[in-house]
Amino acid sequence: MILLDKALNYNEKMIAVAPMMDWTDSHCRVFHRLLAPSARLYSEMVHANAVIHGDRAKLLAMDPVEHPVALQLGGSEPALLAQAARIGAEHGFDEINLNCGCPSDRVQAGRFGACLMREPALVAASVSAMIDAVEVSSRPVPVTVKCRLGVDDDHDWDRFLGFVDTVAAAGCGMFVVHARNAWLKGLSPKENREVPPLRYDWAYRLKRERPQLQVVVNGGIASLPEALGHLAHADGAMLGRAAYHEPYLLHRLDAALRGTPEQPRQALLRALRPYAEAQLAAGVPLRHITRHVLGLFHAQPGGRAFRQVLSEGVHRPGADWSLVERALAATAGTPGLAA
Ligand SMILES: Cc1cc2nc3c(=O)[nH]c(=O)nc-3n(C[C@H](O)[C@H](O)[C@H](O)COP(=O)(O)O)c2cc1C
Repeated sequence: MILLDKALNYNEKMIAVAPMMDWTDSHCRVFHRLLAPSARLYSEMVHANAVIHGDRAKLLAMDPVEHPVALQLGGSEPALLAQAARIGAEHGFDEINLNCGCPSDRVQAGRFGACLMREPALVAASVSAMIDAVEVSSRPVPVTVKCRLGVDDDHDWDRFLGFVDTVAAAGCGMFVVHARNAWLKGLSPKENREVPPLRYDWAYRLKRERPQLQVVVNGGIASLPEALGHLAHADGAMLGRAAYHEPYLLHRLDAALRGTPEQPRQALLRALRPYAEAQLAAGVPLRHITRHVLGLFHAQPGGRAFRQVLSEGVHRPGADWSLVERALAATAGTPGLAA
């Protein structure tokens, strides 16, 4: 049982699941929504061009249960980003987020993602165009930014603050701060999530110096006390890898913030059944859904058996919900496992 700091109003605090390419698709977000009714969920990054010219039914797939859910866009051309933001808002997304943090070579070649940390005026122009574009929507759809502290060897606080101030002046009221630099040369995207040192103090300082902005801390948050600790200094905590690999943590965090009892893992998974069966009926293979639940019994007795039954069975023709029940039975048979 986690004792919350009563001085903090946790109702005003946000938890979020990070945008993650290949991971946070609609199936994943539906599962995370069941675990964490109050969390803000983010799509995978979609390039503005893809939104405009690509297969929208696929790229913008979203189930109504996912709300509140943000669409993350990549790009650096204000007019294209504006058009894509409008399409996203019309599609029902509750927030449009601009990626200013991705360091991949492909993204650098396209001059977007983390490179944009060095182009605050362009980001401001993009944000401003996106805000104008989503205003046509009957609902308020905030335009937000996910950024790093800087790129390469930028370690100048004023430069970071200058980026935020320029973009905030264009109308962005919320910054998700992945609290480390992106090193654009020599590191893979994976290394760029691990090697540059985390400096949460910059995110906290941003909140102190710009209290009118919403600041969400991201990067390396791996436990419940850590997440709650960040909420004492910022408006929100965004979890990426930990939420994906250990989704029950997301549930525990949501329950702690809302003051609701934790539900057992089995019950949470069974709540996914109607969605999974509807998807199966629509021709979606079970593995597209169950790949996101493999970590549910992380570090639990029976966790390995759960993963094994699911991973092996899911490739057999006709795999359906009964496989998930078999995987659950494998955990229930393990001594010491709470129901
Ligand atoms: C598989 C994977 C894909 C990612 N894709 C994106 C993305 O599309 N957009 C983005 O802004 N960040 C992306 N990220 C970075 C995460 O959003 C997050 O900033 C990063 O993982 C640090 O948070 P964490 O330590 O809680 O995982 C990705 C991370 C991972 C692991």
